[in-house]
Amino acid sequence: MSKLLVVKVNPKPAGQSVGLTVGEAFVNAYKEANPADAVTETNLFERYIPEVDGSMLAAWGALAAGKTFADLSETQQKQLEASGAILEEFMAHDKYVFITPMWNLMFPARLKSYIDALCVAGKTFHYTANGPEGLLKNKKAFHIVASGGVHQGAYGDKYLRGILNFIGIEDVGSLYVEGHAFTPDKAGEIIEAGKAQAGDIGKRF
Ligand SMILES: Cc1cc2nc3c(=O)[nH]c(=O)nc-3n(C[C@H](O)[C@H](O)[C@H](O)COP(=O)(O)O)c2cc1C
Repeated sequence: MSKLLVVKVNPKPAGQSVGLTVGEAFVNAYKEANPADAVTETNLFERYIPEVDGSMLAAWGALAAGKTFADLSETQQKQLEASGAILEEFMAHDKYVFITPMWNLMFPARLKSYIDALCVAGKTFHYTANGPEGLLKNKKAFHIVASGGVHQGAYGDKYLRGILNFIGIEDVGSLYVEGHAFTPDKAGEIIEAGKAQAGDIGKRF
């Protein structure tokens, strides 16, 4: 039995988002094909994702210097707890689907903060004589990107793939649902084709 984590990164109601609409087709097809699998859905705009800031850096510094969790401020404890929960949840799954909108050629900044919680030496990667090595082996991921123009995923997709590779996840696929704003007369067609492709990939994922 596999455990799929669906990471939605969009503040819009589902019906107004191209990515979430296409992502739903992926997840429904996956569930139908894998009824025994556990599927967890999370939206980074509906939960607290701490941003690495001065407070968090100071907390890490304090712990490295021998202070305990109880010595940290209430804010720092909240930041580290949330960050640790993100990491534990991620590590407890073995398949991932990221659903993002393209915002200025990237994904929303919240996903970067989420990624900052995932990259922890000794947990998701470690240092070897040959450099850093990812520890999350035998896992796979898929990225669904919705964009109004046509960019083939642009920087966000390349970066997400790079960081997933860095923590050991080598099998990373992508689906670009793009161009609905560039060619509004084809918007319906683009979304329907995206849903069909997502369904097809989702049932085999
Ligand atoms: C802040 C912001 C920045 C955007 N930047 C881009 C962009 O760089 N390229 C592009 O093609 N579309 C851009 N768009 C349009 C979105 O990619 C498009 O609306 C897409 O459908 C968003 O995904 P969603 O429908 O799942 O929310 C931007 C939209 C917003 C709100």
